[in-house]
Amino acid sequence: MKEVYLDNSATTRPLPEVVEAMVASLTDNYGNPSSLHNKGLEAEKILKEARRKIADKLAVLPEEIIFTSGGTESNNLAIKGIAYNFQNRGRHLITTEVEHPSVLESFLALEEEGFEVTYLKADRHGQISLAQLEESITPETILVSIMHVNNELGTIYPLAEIGKLIKEKNPNTFFHADCIQSFGKILLHPASKQLDLLSISGHKIHGPKGIGALYKKKGIELKAQLTGGGQENNYRCGTENVPGIAGLIPALDALPAYTEEKPFDQEMDRLKKHFLKGLKKIKRKVIINSPEDGSPQILNISFPGIKGEVLIHSLAAEGIYVSTGSACHSKSREKSHVLRSIGLSPDVIDGTIRISFSPYNTIEELDYTLACIEKQLKTFF
Ligand SMILES: Cc1ncc(COP(=O)(O)O)c(C=O)c1O
Repeated sequence: MKEVYLDNSATTRPLPEVVEAMVASLTDNYGNPSSLHNKGLEAEKILKEARRKIADKLAVLPEEIIFTSGGTESNNLAIKGIAYNFQNRGRHLITTEVEHPSVLESFLALEEEGFEVTYLKADRHGQISLAQLEESITPETILVSIMHVNNELGTIYPLAEIGKLIKEKNPNTFFHADCIQSFGKILLHPASKQLDLLSISGHKIHGPKGIGALYKKKGIELKAQLTGGGQENNYRCGTENVPGIAGLIPALDALPAYTEEKPFDQEMDRLKKHFLKGLKKIKRKVIINSPEDGSPQILNISFPGIKGEVLIHSLAAEGIYVSTGSACHSKSREKSHVLRSIGLSPDVIDGTIRISFSPYNTIEELDYTLACIEKQLKTFF
């Protein structure tokens, strides 16, 4: 059976060279990077190379990169690290209603501890209002955290405009972005967006799971969430995940080099446009929830009257892997908070699927998927 993997926002298939680098690290360079002997130095070299490569992609300094266990930890460290460290300056925080649970749950935990949180509303396509953001920033606001690309809808948030607005209204407010769905897919230089902190994850870029990083602008202090042996300049203690970090190196090498002229993945954009064209030919009602100018890799669509979950299982039986709302928590029976927030009715939410591309997908795979969707839809009516 043909296998067509179109759930690349949930995770991506590691590249063969990623697996190779990880195996080499587990078998040969297995030293602890904190050890002083050769084995330790070899491992330390891997850390240094990966740190430099991430820094180069972001146009920042290697010492501004902290390795973590992934996007979830990077988000927790950024949000709680700033909140606890600067609570004497103010206890007001801002985020959006449509963030990933790793962000929302961090804010909920802080709310329980007495912090005040403003959740910005989202419109029909997940976009926020800059006017609401501006109104919400007060002298007490210590942090704004807004994602770069929405993992369910693909909505791109205008971080440069947001950064400018925040710093004009309150230069003491820190700005963090969850860039887990944009890193490697869209041009991303934190300085151009006045970002102080930025989270990334390895497994969304054909790298390993369980490895991520937080960019933290030089000079900003954070309260560490894991204390111990002093690794990562004391911001994130624990022996570094060297095999994961080794695997990141080829994943980073394989990413396209974006420029102002070509600021996003052209190949994925081509795939998305092809898929959209094919969808329009299907003779069933389909609602496109993703904005037209959304990220190239995510397409969120609803087939009203159909159970998305059933469609997903029937597509899986044909070797096609897509997801309902958001795969990060798709096992939960609860309806997606993002789809509720943009005003979809429960019935439409039930009929929603997310298709997410990788530059390694092909037009043939998409045509096969479209034909299978059309075939499956006929069985529903
Ligand atoms: C927007 C966003 N933030 C955070 C995460 C969590 O990243 P990780 O799986 O590396 O913990 C994800 C994962 O899907 C995501 O899409």
